[in-house]
Amino acid sequence: MAVLSKTFALGAALLMQLAAAQQLVVSHFSGTVYALNYSDGNLTITDQNKQAGQRIPSWVTWDGKSRTAYVSDESWFGARTGRFASYGLSEAGKLTVSGVATTNGGDVASGVYGGPGGNSFIGQAAYEAGTLTTWALPLESSDTPIQSFQYFMNAPGPNPERQNKPHLHSVFTDPTGDFLLSNDLGADITRVWSIASDTGRLTECPGIRAHTGGDGPRHSVFREADGVTYLYVINELGETVSGYVVTYPSSGCLSAQHFQSISTFPENSTKPANTKAAEVHIKGNFLYASNRNDETFGKERDSIAQYSIGADGRLRFLGLANAQGFFPRTYSISEDGTLVAIGGQTDAVVSIVERDTETGLIGDLLARINVGQRGTYMGEDGLSAVTWAE
Ligand SMILES: *[C@@H]1O[C@H](CO)[C@@H](O)[C@H](O)[C@H]1NC(C)=O
Ligand SMILES: *[C@@H]1O[C@H](CO)[C@@H](O)[C@H](O)[C@H]1NC(C)=O
Ligand SMILES: *[C@@H]1O[C@H](CO)[C@@H](O)[C@H](O)[C@H]1NC(C)=O
Repeated sequence: MAVLSKTFALGAALLMQLAAAQQLVVSHFSGTVYALNYSDGNLTITDQNKQAGQRIPSWVTWDGKSRTAYVSDESWFGARTGRFASYGLSEAGKLTVSGVATTNGGDVASGVYGGPGGNSFIGQAAYEAGTLTTWALPLESSDTPIQSFQYFMNAPGPNPERQNKPHLHSVFTDPTGDFLLSNDLGADITRVWSIASDTGRLTECPGIRAHTGGDGPRHSVFREADGVTYLYVINELGETVSGYVVTYPSSGCLSAQHFQSISTFPENSTKPANTKAAEVHIKGNFLYASNRNDETFGKERDSIAQYSIGADGRLRFLGLANAQGFFPRTYSISEDGTLVAIGGQTDAVVSIVERDTETGLIGDLLARINVGQRGTYMGEDGLSAVTWAE
């Protein structure tokens, strides 16, 4: 009996170790895409690849169903210079380029949508051009876009330097998969399109205005709870998170009602100068919003704001957590909610920290690793994105 239970315990320990081993994909603005492996406190680079010929990889969209990483290229060297690439990731941690399409560059984010698995097409947001462009998957070199939507403004927004024109910054679907959305930081609007799931074609719907002029919406997350659909938008310039209740009128578009905007810093606190909010994520009843350049936790140690989500969808500020790096442009929460991978852009460091699934609080540093060259302060270089590849 004693022998049996010991064998069982060993087997369980082994299983837990296997379950704890996790792969990550990282993009670096210098041109290289990396695969990482985290296991029980050990974080290693298992592969690096720049065979897609990307100049300025800016973003990774991970599609777990096809185990494919879609990497945007911010290359701003004129028309037809962006290379939108897809990478396969093997169980052994090797990256293989599976497709490359040519874009006009300036791409900063993508999101898959449509088709039977919700991953037959992909939308690409270009910041500088202010465009949303759609592609059929898989990507191929002969590809031309399905559609491209370009936006214009008559006059600059309240923050004329950053809001000189439309700047689309994200691509994501709603929980029904019937709508594609993109936050336009320049125009203070979340743009909305309805999806024709079989062809991938989009039809424009009325957008969702930012609550306050100058908010500069960047990224978003949806949440469904008790039959209600919520949308939370992180505002890069306003450094707030805005909450909306989303409904689906019979007109065929979606409608959003604002109910809250809350700071990414403690209530009534004085914000450090030159900070910018970056990325929002939700896990369970908790929401997270990263701050860049606040150095709340010391030199080159920025923060992630943590909130609990009430039954009415309202956010309550729980405190700032140590982002363990400088300019946390992206971070990613593991599916089981126990780990957060944080990508410091300027220090080019990936940190793995623990997360308490009960309290929602981000905890201690478990591992960190340098990935590629450091960036320059406030520069568009360094580590651009990190995501768990689950
Ligand atoms: C972590 O790395 C150390 C040092 O290389 C090694 O001794 C240890 O076995 C590794 N642990 C795991 C779980 O891989
Ligand atoms: C990750 O590390 C663990 C522990 O060293 C190892 O068992 C596993 O094979 C590694 N996975 C990859 C993809 O390298
Ligand atoms: C913030 O300031 C307002 C107005 O002075 C006050 O009512 C509120 O209690 C303050 N909040 C905190 C957390 O100190």
